[in-house]
Amino acid sequence: MKNSNIRNYDYFCIIMRIDIITVLPELLESPLSHSIIKRARAKSLAEIVIHDLRTYGKGKYLQTDDYSFGGDAGMVMMIEPVYNLLEDLKKDRLYDEILYTSPDGELFSQKEANRLSCLQNIIILCGHYKGIDQRIRDHLITKEISIGDYVLSGGELAAAVITDALVRLLPGALSDETSALTDSFQDGLLAPPIYTRPANFRGWKVPEVLLCGDPVKIRTWQEEKSLDRTERLRPDLLKNNSGD
Ligand code: ADE
Repeated sequence: MKNSNIRNYDYFCIIMRIDIITVLPELLESPLSHSIIKRARAKSLAEIVIHDLRTYGKGKYLQTDDYSFGGDAGMVMMIEPVYNLLEDLKKDRLYDEILYTSPDGELFSQKEANRLSCLQNIIILCGHYKGIDQRIRDHLITKEISIGDYVLSGGELAAAVITDALVRLLPGALSDETSALTDSFQDGLLAPPIYTRPANFRGWKVPEVLLCGDPVKIRTWQEEKSLDRTERLRPDLLKNNSGD
């Protein structure tokens, strides 16, 4: 019999809604339609709605960008379509964060993914063109996020990365709920090496301890390896390690 104290996430209501605003919806469809995200959407743990900003574009050509004042080269995302779309979204629910993907933003991290995954409704506005009208950033956005110190052609891939990192954290999204907690970075360390069958492939052997069946010994070995890998590959994590 099922334990009635345990939530059955197959029938659980939506935990998180993510609205993504973009001028290139096609770029987001595939990354958000497979594997863990697909399952989380199918189980209604996450509702992800992609909005084509062009449907709010101005005039006959549904314009969403224009030349910049001051004559710099490059087109700039206009404020009106963004404002109108946000106003429509806000009519239906309260949003906890309105994020803008930009190389200027705060560097995305597991800590930030954990924080965002506890929110209920978020919007991600994907940057495009040369940039967006500064008034969008000043008045409509609550936070800017960068996924790394490099420049992408647009914010869609960054939005997909952020969405993936959040959705996999939702309870019930992973088949084994503990596995998100053992991800690299969750305890400020890289994950230990893992192996599967065969135990011996052309003389390349799986470490003996993993075959011994003693969970304490295995856990101790994994912790040592985690620390070891972090020291070797990402010593910066140990310096900044605040445990969250
Ligand atoms: N848009 C362009 N480059 C980006 C980056 N590195 N992170 C987030 N959004 C971006």
